[in-house]
Amino acid sequence: MATTVVIGTQWGDEGKGKIVDLLTGHADVIVRFQGGNNAGHTLVVEGKKFVFHLIPSGILYNDKLCAIGNGVVLDPAVLLEEMEELENNGMTITPDRLRISLNTHLIMPYHRAMDHAREAAKAKGKKIGTTGRGIGPCYEDKIVRNGIKIADLLDPQLFRDKLEENLQYKNFLFRELYGTDTIDVEEVYGQYQQYAEKLAPFATNVSIIIDEARKADKNILFEGAQGTQLDIDHGTYPFVTSSNTIAGGACSGSGIGPSKIDCTLGICKAYTTRVGEGPFPTELFDEVGDQIQKQGVEFGATTGRKRRCGWLDGVVLQDAVRLNGLDGLVVTKLDVMSGLKNLKICTAYDVNGKTFNYMPANIRDAQAAKPVYRDIDGWDQDITGATSIDELPVQARDYLKAMEEIAGVPISIVSVGPGREQTMLLNNPFEK
Ligand code: GDP
Ligand code: IMO
Ligand code: MG
Repeated sequence: MATTVVIGTQWGDEGKGKIVDLLTGHADVIVRFQGGNNAGHTLVVEGKKFVFHLIPSGILYNDKLCAIGNGVVLDPAVLLEEMEELENNGMTITPDRLRISLNTHLIMPYHRAMDHAREAAKAKGKKIGTTGRGIGPCYEDKIVRNGIKIADLLDPQLFRDKLEENLQYKNFLFRELYGTDTIDVEEVYGQYQQYAEKLAPFATNVSIIIDEARKADKNILFEGAQGTQLDIDHGTYPFVTSSNTIAGGACSGSGIGPSKIDCTLGICKAYTTRVGEGPFPTELFDEVGDQIQKQGVEFGATTGRKRRCGWLDGVVLQDAVRLNGLDGLVVTKLDVMSGLKNLKICTAYDVNGKTFNYMPANIRDAQAAKPVYRDIDGWDQDITGATSIDELPVQARDYLKAMEEIAGVPISIVSVGPGREQTMLLNNPFEK
């Protein structure tokens, strides 16, 4: 029995979906614990591509249980759409395969509307560049104790009371502050009662499910969304998402105690990307950045936006090792570096003459951070078919060594292509 948490070390899109799918082969239960359908996790299995926003990336295995924890914010329409898409691919999603916490908060139409209205009202330079999925407003309601949980949805009277109370306030803001359309109680009530009927069989106490699985000697895999620098507390605030994306979030977001986590793996792309606004010290604005963007096919899996690209940031990596207590690294997209002549890895920041070895807390300092680079030789060979470290060119091996040296933790997995099989599993966290 082992429990493993997989999280992103950068600004999201590190390849969590692919790695979770791979590790699911060795796990029994796969749990999402934060974020919502702002996530876009891509899996490529036997040449077929799947993108999951809400359903855990373990769902393609029919003998595993996927769970959505209390820390997730859930848009029922999106969940039902994903279930339908899986059905269209011949996979029936029954409660044997998917469970949802009764404590999971629901994304409501007014959360999405608020997300859009707020972003539209913000001046240039102040916009976050959110995914527009209602994530921030939903977490905000949860924190001020106005949120609606699945348990509330399943109690029609409680649901109606909460909905009416929320809409009274929200519609005032839409009408008086933002000048946007108001939302009708009856329409939402009717729509969500339909969702309630469909979701009821899946709703349960996920903390107990995890506990029982642990006691039955099962392997449990926790699937992070977003990345460490998007964490609400430790990221580049306010250009972050509204949840704890770090490994600690797996405990609060699913109902497992910290002493019961055995291994934490951090996924790191061989370079860096970011979607949306906010500081990005190693961002490239030249043809090298364009080359990485093209070779890495760096477009957002949720919004389709072009991702900003830059060199690997060792400062961000070291922050991630510390904040998540990483036991091992997963390096993805090493293949994308092939053909780039002179590679660079950022080892520190210069902020107005002062050296930083961590992301500055002051956002203006973070925005002013200039990377201090270490140069490293590139390689030309195509490595997408490599099945062991020995098959990699010496420069690629040196690059991996440099990453290990900077992180101070060993590399557990190396990924050289989007396919499930294009992966070198050096150290299986479930075989300790
Ligand atoms: P996630 O949000 O962390 O799950 O990552 P995304 O799915 O948003 O973005 C990662 C993208 O890179 C997806 O299109 C993956 O199919 C792809 N990918 C993952 N690992 C590799 C790899 O090692 N090499 C290449 N070329 N693509 C990869
Ligand atoms: P995965 O799980 C990359 C970014 C958005 C925006 C900020 C806040 O696929 O790695 P939000 O809608 O969450 O309020 O937006 O966070 N963001 C992501 N960037 N990958 C993600 O998820 C992201 N989820 C949110 O672009 O900058
Ligand atoms: Mg993604």
